[in-house]
Amino acid sequence: MNVLSRLRRARKALISAGAAVTLAAGLQSGISTPSQAATSLPCDIYAAGGTPCVAAHSTTRALYASYNGSLYQVRRSSDNATRNIGVLSAGGYADAASQDSFCSGTTCLITIIYDQSGRGNNLTQAPGGGAAGGPDNLAVATAAPTMINGHKAYGVYVAAGTGYRNDHTSGIATGDQPEGMYAVFDGTHYNGGCCFDYGNAETSNNDTGNGHMEAIYFGNIKVWGYGTGNGPWVMADLENGLFSGVNAGYNANDPTVSHRYLTAIVKGGANLWSIRAGNAQSGGLSTYYSGKRPNVSGYNPMHKEGAIILGIGGDNSKGSAGTFYEGVMTSGYPTDATENAVQASIVAGGYATTSGGGSGGTLTPGSSVSLRATTSGYTDRYVRHYNDQAITSVITSSSSDLDKNDATWIVHSGLASSSCVSFESKNYPGDYLRHQNFQVYRQHNDGSSLFAADATFCPQTGKSGQGTSLASYNYPDRFLRHYNNTVYVASNGGSHDFDSSSSWTDDVSWAVGQPWV
Ligand code: AHR
Ligand code: AHR
Ligand code: AHR
Repeated sequence: MNVLSRLRRARKALISAGAAVTLAAGLQSGISTPSQAATSLPCDIYAAGGTPCVAAHSTTRALYASYNGSLYQVRRSSDNATRNIGVLSAGGYADAASQDSFCSGTTCLITIIYDQSGRGNNLTQAPGGGAAGGPDNLAVATAAPTMINGHKAYGVYVAAGTGYRNDHTSGIATGDQPEGMYAVFDGTHYNGGCCFDYGNAETSNNDTGNGHMEAIYFGNIKVWGYGTGNGPWVMADLENGLFSGVNAGYNANDPTVSHRYLTAIVKGGANLWSIRAGNAQSGGLSTYYSGKRPNVSGYNPMHKEGAIILGIGGDNSKGSAGTFYEGVMTSGYPTDATENAVQASIVAGGYATTSGGGSGGTLTPGSSVSLRATTSGYTDRYVRHYNDQAITSVITSSSSDLDKNDATWIVHSGLASSSCVSFESKNYPGDYLRHQNFQVYRQHNDGSSLFAADATFCPQTGKSGQGTSLASYNYPDRFLRHYNNTVYVASNGGSHDFDSSSSWTDDVSWAVGQPWV
């Protein structure tokens, strides 16, 4: 106890000096691993600050320097077998290769996001609730690839309908007890549905009234609250209200924030709460609100219930979308200095985007490409439009100029997310590949958010191990596929003929190549 509290004080001093994410070997010598210096990870920093993590979730990395357990579990569709995905070393990064080999040739879903805090506050498939039935969908395990400190890893990709929850937690704040939370999100993946949240919610899956939630919200729904610009905003979901500051509705200090990797913070204590955020790849945090509870009745004191949600609202509203990489909940109201040190540790963690194109060929916005089938017997066929449908045709150097133009696509940063891509027709400017009822067409961009989502595809290494697969942004278990030489977004097995599992991995793997014109 004496040694530990000395250690805590020493760490606290270090941290509040803004100094160090790395603790010297000498400090560590008070505890069990005397020989090596350890890098302080977010939960080490919160503990040193006296506000320990009571839930710690990440599919990309350990959140304690000593954590050596499983990060998450995946289940594959081919035989429903499950595998726990751990870290490469204690305090290290996710073993994504283990997921890749287990899920090769099939589709995996994330079934459990383990709690690293030791309290067993795991997140699993959310049940139905007052606003929507369930169980909710599980995230497709490959839908949010990322790099972290040079290692490949996967985030939790929440398409509308996806949700995780734990209604039987240990150590999470209840009533008016203080707590802190941070999460790292993809700031370019959001929507205006209710409610992409991470944090404290009702244990009954129902809306039990104002103040019964306290969660980080990220997105651009304006029904309850908003800040400057068009969004997205980080807000606090306090139940029957997303708050951007002390007022219901507009608060001028809550800016639009859309860093590709976004650190978002909400914390709440007795008649006190804050919103903070920053770029998870560089720099510090800004405080968008810190002060008394909203000037609307029912939020002071709070009535927190202590369930944990991810990707949904308190009553299981599940119209929302977003991507989660890591996040924690603490016991106690963390100091700004503690959170600043956590932000430094996140930045040091080294989130970065993947190069995107998979093997062979790149999908660089601004460039023009062709997309060639890789299925044996069809490797001379390319995605082209014909009338307004997307099909595959044999294209060769002696094809007509018209055919070559029809088979050439201009790559754009995804209309719905800059971490994905969209394909504009070479000879029909303003027309894009988009799916509708799961068939793919060339259509003019009507500017709607549905069009943007339908026309956005997220590249990953080809499902067959060859080329590039292109996941539908709004149906992430569906991939651009040819079937009877027509192009669809198809799942691996499903109700349509074009969802056939036979030759699926080959049919969804495309060779990205030189443009025909
Ligand atoms: O507070 C916003 C939302 O309102 C909550 O997430 C949900 O429970 C309710 O519909
Ligand atoms: O392709 C599936 C859905 O069908 C699209 O999202 C929508 O445009 C259409 O209703
Ligand atoms: O699109 C051509 C072929 O049609 C696909 O390879 C196969 O899935 C279907 O029979």
